[in-house]
Amino acid sequence: MFVRPARLDDLPAIYRICDETGTFVSEDDRTPELLGHVYAGPYVVAGEDTRSVVVVDGHGVAGYLLCALDTNAFERWRETTWWPGLRADYPRVLVGRSAADQEVVDLIHAPPVASASIVTQYPAHLHIDLLPRIQGCGIGGKLIRELIEDVAKRGVVGLHLDVGSENVRAIALYRRLGFTELERTSDSLFMGRLTTL
Ligand SMILES: CC(C)(COP(=O)(O)OP(=O)(O)OC[C@H]1O[C@@H](n2cnc3c(N)ncnc32)[C@H](O)[C@@H]1OP(=O)(O)O)[C@@H](O)C(=O)NCCC(=O)NCCS
Repeated sequence: MFVRPARLDDLPAIYRICDETGTFVSEDDRTPELLGHVYAGPYVVAGEDTRSVVVVDGHGVAGYLLCALDTNAFERWRETTWWPGLRADYPRVLVGRSAADQEVVDLIHAPPVASASIVTQYPAHLHIDLLPRIQGCGIGGKLIRELIEDVAKRGVVGLHLDVGSENVRAIALYRRLGFTELERTSDSLFMGRLTTL
């Protein structure tokens, strides 16, 4: 098993992993690539100001850690370059769309972003997803520790992430890695960590 920078040709695998590990995975009636458009694709395509890696095992790409180093710049890029085409392809209102798809389409039109105060203190943000076959072996913790070291070297003062409030095991891991709770919404929790800790 090894880790390498994510490439554009990893996108199909990354989208599949995003869909398989995503919150909406239990819903049958959904468009599989939608979640990836929100949580994965732009971190690979944007290139600059991102640090995205994949974990590869004997069966192929089995996980990723995607990070935008400057959330504000990344959001500006997404507004001008990423969202317009998707918003045209997936209009906010469409008769007959499944509830699962509608939930993600709403995110395309109103992307989930941390509050300004979080972004100021913790300018980078990350998403991590590993397929079950490589979970629980220490890879997630290792990837995040390496990310923290790397972004610190680049002069980024802090990182934040958004985790489903039901995802207690991931939250426990993030706490062990030094992340603290910043803000809670009805179904998610924003956590942050300074890189100097
Ligand atoms: C959350 C995740 C990134 C953690 O990476 P990991 O490599 O499995 O975790 P590690 O082996 O480094 O550390 C183990 C700890 O991670 C946490 N953890 C979270 N989900 C886990 C899972 N499915 N399996 C094992 N550990 C998990 C636990 O705190 C665990 O400690 P414990 O064994 O004492 O309960 C990974 O399990 C994963 O991708 N899960 C599915 C998708 C997900 O929840 N992504 C995060 C969304 S914010």
